[in-house]
Amino acid sequence: MMEKKITAQRKKQKELPALQIPYSTIVRLTHYLRVVEKLDELGVSNISSAELSEETKINSFLVRKDLSYFGEFGTRGVGYDIPSLRRELRGILGLTKTHKAVVVGAGNLGRALIHYSGFLDKGFEITAVFDSDPGKIGSKVENFQVRSVFNLEEYLKGNPETAIGIIAVPAASAQFIANLLIANGIKGILNFAPITLQVPEEVVYSSVDLTTHLEIISFYITHPEAKKMNG
Ligand code: NAI
Repeated sequence: MMEKKITAQRKKQKELPALQIPYSTIVRLTHYLRVVEKLDELGVSNISSAELSEETKINSFLVRKDLSYFGEFGTRGVGYDIPSLRRELRGILGLTKTHKAVVVGAGNLGRALIHYSGFLDKGFEITAVFDSDPGKIGSKVENFQVRSVFNLEEYLKGNPETAIGIIAVPAASAQFIANLLIANGIKGILNFAPITLQVPEEVVYSSVDLTTHLEIISFYITHPEAKKMNG
């Protein structure tokens, strides 16, 4: 009964222009999903926005505001039904299907990413790995045989459902690889190289820099009086 109401209300809001949704909201949705997944697996059935706020360290006003972009999920005084919220968050984040990804760069980082088995559970399947080093091409990483980067274009043309390119090459080669990925239909790029890449507006770009996180830790170690709040 409650579920039907949620769907109906969601439908009403579904056509909200995506532009109205801040990027920071999308980042926080992934935090809510992590918590909701954990609680769902523990068999917890309900969570209030105050509890979700406590678990994620995100202000409860922001929790309610973020979720309200996508419809009214909760019931006043009762909170959120965890299995429904989990389903809704996965739907919003586009996680109801598996996204295929290629890794370019089979060095230390690329290999570590391939060895990590957790992505598939979360809806991301690495389907191929590429490198330019003749000493690495043809070698095995887990179940993958490293392919030549010269075959990247051909691979993407033959596997047009590949949506994500993960860049784990040195900074000097990263833009070239990004251009190649984009020219061959890749819709989203996750870049690990320490360089800001230029990508067309329609391509979703995200970069990971562990140094940034270490710098944030450094700030809080240096200023223990500062209260850490996400969001
Ligand atoms: P690595 O040197 O072990 O591996 C790089 C690989 O890229 C090598 O196998 C090399 O043959 C390959 N490569 C170079 N040019 C290529 C090209 N044009 N096409 C295809 N393959 C190519 O380096 P590592 O440690 O794996 O780091 C990879 C990248 O990730 C670097 O840019 C590094 O700075 C960055 N990195 C970023 C971190 C972060 O926090 N974002 C953390 C660690 C590394």
